[in-house]
Amino acid sequence: MPKDAMFSEEEQVLRQAGKAVGDERYKDSPLHAEFVSLVNGYQRLFKQVRRVISVSDKQQHGLIFELEQAFESFARTLVTTIDAKHRLTAGHSERVTEYALFIGDKMGFSDEQMEVLKYAGLLHDIGKIGVPDAVLTKNGAFSPDERLKMNEHATWTWQILSVIRLPRNLREIPKMAACHHEKMDGTGYPYGLKGDDIPFFSRILAVSDVFDALTSRRDYPKYDREKILSTDPMSMEMAFSILTKDQNIHFDPTVVSVVLNHRTEFETMWQYLHTNQAAGG
Ligand SMILES: [Fe+2]
Ligand SMILES: [Fe+2]
Repeated sequence: MPKDAMFSEEEQVLRQAGKAVGDERYKDSPLHAEFVSLVNGYQRLFKQVRRVISVSDKQQHGLIFELEQAFESFARTLVTTIDAKHRLTAGHSERVTEYALFIGDKMGFSDEQMEVLKYAGLLHDIGKIGVPDAVLTKNGAFSPDERLKMNEHATWTWQILSVIRLPRNLREIPKMAACHHEKMDGTGYPYGLKGDDIPFFSRILAVSDVFDALTSRRDYPKYDREKILSTDPMSMEMAFSILTKDQNIHFDPTVVSVVLNHRTEFETMWQYLHTNQAAGG
């Protein structure tokens, strides 16, 4: 296939993204600056891919490896922008990813599936870039309107990731990442999906996400259904009992059973992640 034909679809997407960057209607969005740097970063990556294709086979292997590394650091940099905006949840996406990968590993996922799960985990809350700072960093309970704005981060996640021309094997990530707040009984958000309609990887992220939220320090109180608890990290025992109690309501029981069958390893991982990363949750 001629090289130009190979890239025509990608170039079209980048041209559309470039147009969106210049669109006056988006200028006032809190997302605009991040969106511009995201598009620029991806354009640079695209140029690198073109370079890889133009060199000899011998050089390709090393360059593709470098490209994968560049993509991973690009994704981690995006995550860092969220950490910088909201210091009390710093490290959250990295920890959620580690918990999700642990579950995937115990379920016998292939290397390709683990790769998808890793990026869905790292990028699941990237939509928080679109939440106004006054809401994101509020120290206290949300008003109903603020809660709505906060919940919009899930749809922002889908929108932001959909703009990126992801490698073919990662194309399901926008949906998987955006559905991490869906619940098995259909009362979650943003789409109110139910049971098997929720992507399976999103169900893994849901368990990992809540486990990390419960067992990390927060700047607003934790809730157990309607009951207000505290901002302190919850004990492992209590977190496990919430996962158990909310099976089939919030969580996929298959995923919860993997966690419950490996409680000790989960506790060890929690300890490791909280001593080797900035404290927070
Ligand atoms: Fe989230
Ligand atoms: Fe999260």
